[in-house]
Formats: sequence, structure tokens, C-alpha cells
Amino acid sequence: MRLQTATWPDVEAYLEHSDAVIVPIGSTEQHGPNGMLGTDAICPETIAFGVAESMQVLVAPTLSIGQAHHHLGFPGTIALRPSTLLAVLVDVVRSLYRHGFRHVYFLNGHGGNVATVNTAFQEIYAQSTFGDASLSDLRLRLCNWYMSPTVGKLSKELFGDQEGSHATPSEVSLTFYAYPDDVKSTPMSPTLAPTGSIRDADDYRTQFADGRIGSNPALATVEAGARLFEASVNDVLEDFRGFIST
Ligand code: NI
Repeated sequence: MRLQTATWPDVEAYLEHSDAVIVPIGSTEQHGPNGMLGTDAICPETIAFGVAESMQVLVAPTLSIGQAHHHLGFPGTIALRPSTLLAVLVDVVRSLYRHGFRHVYFLNGHGGNVATVNTAFQEIYAQSTFGDASLSDLRLRLCNWYMSPTVGKLSKELFGDQEGSHATPSEVSLTFYAYPDDVKSTPMSPTLAPTGSIRDADDYRTQFADGRIGSNPALATVEAGARLFEASVNDVLEDFRGFIST
């Protein structure tokens, strides 16, 4: 069930038999010459909807804007600074908690969000510890879809050392699977993007002129996306079932 198309009585009825919710979280940021700006949000959202087809679970609206200031050298990127994202996450969890949700599962598609999501978890648990709120029965989990064991193995098998770390053929494939009408074939030069560490937005644009890091997303296909989707849904299902049993 999707929260955005549910009614409040639907959610009230759902809460009578489950206190779990999946919150997809991503980013709106450049993903190289052929990658959609919504890649990091589209991937976890698509996977979450896949999970919801296999089991009865509520999927919250995707948090589509994340910590992505380093991509602001490229048009279309929209970013929250870490402190803003932290505040958003705390308010989202506290809202859900108020309604009776006790297992809140963040399914993330953007590496730049990881530190802030974990900090938000600690902020929320600290609010409970310090007595600012009674949240001791709250369970939080972060799952990064691209890090799951089966997905990692499949990405390696499909793309080898051309996977890279940003605008990867795996994530671009998954968006092509989700939105086949928006598939783009764009030549990449050089074929394989350079790698390295980044600082701010200007540094990023200087070092990585077309936005990619270490990847060759020209290899992305709908078929690879379908395989990654299936692998990820299975991994997330297993992880989520384990989470809600705690
Ligand atoms: Ni990405």
C-alpha cells in the first residue's frame, strides 16, 4: 500500500495489524550524461513498490531531495545541507511514531545521505534517552539497496570494473527498467570516468567534467535493470522481514 494513494482510514486499519513502514530516501542530483536526475530516489522507490507487491507493507512518500551539495555544479541538482536533512528526518520519524509506527525502515539510494540518516537515528534515540520524548519502543533501520550482497555480486558480474561509484551502470539500469520510455543512449568520453575524492561542488565539476566517477553507464540496459530489481527486492524482503521481527 502506498501512503500517497491511501486514505487516513486505510492507514488506521493498517496500523491495527502492522506498525512497520518503508520510507524510500534518495536525492535529486546529476547522474552523468545519460542518468536521470532522480536516479537515487527512483531506485529505492521502485524497489520499495516491488517489496509491497510481495508482502503487505505501507510505503511512505519518497524523500527525493537529499544531501547532495557536491553535485550543485550541475544544473538540476537540488540539495539539502546535512543539518536541514537531519531536521526533516527527525520530523518524519516523529510524525510516523505519533500515529503508532514503531518499525521505520529507510530504503536509501544515495551514499551522501548515509551519515546524516545515521546521525538522525542517534538524534532520535537521544531524544528518548534524555526524556524529551517517549520513544523507547521505536526501531529504525537504514538499508542501502546498492550495498546488499546479491546486488553487489550481480553488479560485478554485469559490469565488472566499469561499475564505478557515481552514475553507475547498475543504478542507471534500474531507472531504465522503471522508466523504459526515458532510456537514453549517450556516448561517453572517456569510456571509463576518472576516480578520486571530492570536496565541494566546484571541485567536483573540475575533476569530473561530465559528472561520472569511475563508471561507464553507457553499459546500462533495461534487461540488467530487471535483474537488479529482482535481486534487490529479494534482499530487501529478507532484511525487512528480519527487521520487523525485532
Ligand atoms: Ni546515485
